[in-house]
Amino acid sequence: MKLWSGRFTKQTDKLTEDFNASIAFDSRMYVQDIRGSMAHAAMLAKQGIISREEGENIMAALQEIQSEIENGQLEFTVEAEDIHMNIETFLTARIGDTGKKLHTARSRNDQVALDIRLYLNDEIIKIRQLLLELEETLLKIAGEHLHTVMPGYTHMQKAQPITLAHHLLAYFEMFRRDVERLDDCRKRVAAMPLGSGALAATGFNLDREYVREQLGFDYITRNSLDGVSDRDFAIEFCSFASILMMHLSRFSEEIILWATDEFAFVQLDDGFSTGSSIMPQKKNPDIAELVRGKTGRVYGDLITLLTLMKALPLAYNKDMQEDKEALFDALDTVKKCLMVFTPLLQTTRFQKEKMAQEARGGFTNATDLADYLVEKGMPFRDAHAVVGQAVLYCLENQQVLEEIDLETFKQFSSKIDADVYQNLDIANCVAKRQIPGGPAPQTVSRALAEAAAWLKEM
Ligand code: ARG
Repeated sequence: MKLWSGRFTKQTDKLTEDFNASIAFDSRMYVQDIRGSMAHAAMLAKQGIISREEGENIMAALQEIQSEIENGQLEFTVEAEDIHMNIETFLTARIGDTGKKLHTARSRNDQVALDIRLYLNDEIIKIRQLLLELEETLLKIAGEHLHTVMPGYTHMQKAQPITLAHHLLAYFEMFRRDVERLDDCRKRVAAMPLGSGALAATGFNLDREYVREQLGFDYITRNSLDGVSDRDFAIEFCSFASILMMHLSRFSEEIILWATDEFAFVQLDDGFSTGSSIMPQKKNPDIAELVRGKTGRVYGDLITLLTLMKALPLAYNKDMQEDKEALFDALDTVKKCLMVFTPLLQTTRFQKEKMAQEARGGFTNATDLADYLVEKGMPFRDAHAVVGQAVLYCLENQQVLEEIDLETFKQFSSKIDADVYQNLDIANCVAKRQIPGGPAPQTVSRALAEAAAWLKEM
């Protein structure tokens, strides 16, 4: 017998039952469902809607049910459709008529909204922690590489010298914004919807504030229609998750590139690499590739939710049952990626020598030569042209700028003197970029301190 079978004259078709059921994917919210029901029961008793004894019996039985689920003693059924009715069925089987009172002044519509919010909030706490661990790792590695000079790129062409610390702190900034976005998303997750009922709240004198407090929400939803039909918070989470994955994917792409024989900027740890079934020499950066690949499915989850909610009339519609798989997939994927990405970084060896060597080639100090001429009084645009000529000369003679002798230099501009060589020194090029946001070791060292202070506050 279905909990709602009263007005029906025949059994549900088996196809309907299977198609309609969500227990296969919403059973993971059993803890949250029980937590919500306990708070609801306690409130019903406090308000005199059920007796104190009934409230206590319901709560005790729910607690038993939770541990029996945990011990694998209870099995969910498709007949009971979803997690909410599965647990209510267990409850009624256990304490009979008292159990039947639990659903007073509640609908599955506000119940499921509550469960998702509780579940998401619990997961956000874990994800936030994982993100902070990644940030801590970045700070630690950056601290070891304040003086590790490497080429910076634009268009994947060598551009100007930077340091590895500076490069890593760029990712620190991205993930810092991700933490901020997550915290902001959590403000909207923290709304307590119980009391919204099916859509029109209830005539019973519920104490919604009491339930809110019991469950640790920040505020109660302000409109019953919105309370049951809002999934913005899940979309916001997937939006946060998509941006985070985009950042992880960029980072992964660089690790993949850096691990190539051609770049050889990093050596991945054997524990975080994989081999080939045919090519004996191979060591592949599968983890970084998978993180890059999984970014696509998280974007998919975001688009799923946006499309799901588009054009849905108020209030609850069964379409919304489809929200869970996308949301859970995004949660699981982000968690898994963060869990493996941080140790991948921790175990990666950075090849300082190769980085420095590559920074010395490719004319990464050409801008500095132009800046040198500007300091000697030449307008920048003219200096740019002069250095362009010098670069062309070097390309034709297969040398780098610092290898041009002074006499030849003077043919490009009489303003060039012997002090040009120290201005072309790659380490000096980095060291003089001291303005806030720049790569000079002393500037990055201050940035590190600021970042560490922020992290400590989190
Ligand atoms: N399993 C449903 C869901 O996930 C619970 C709410 C069902 N409400 C309803 N009126 N059919 O959305």
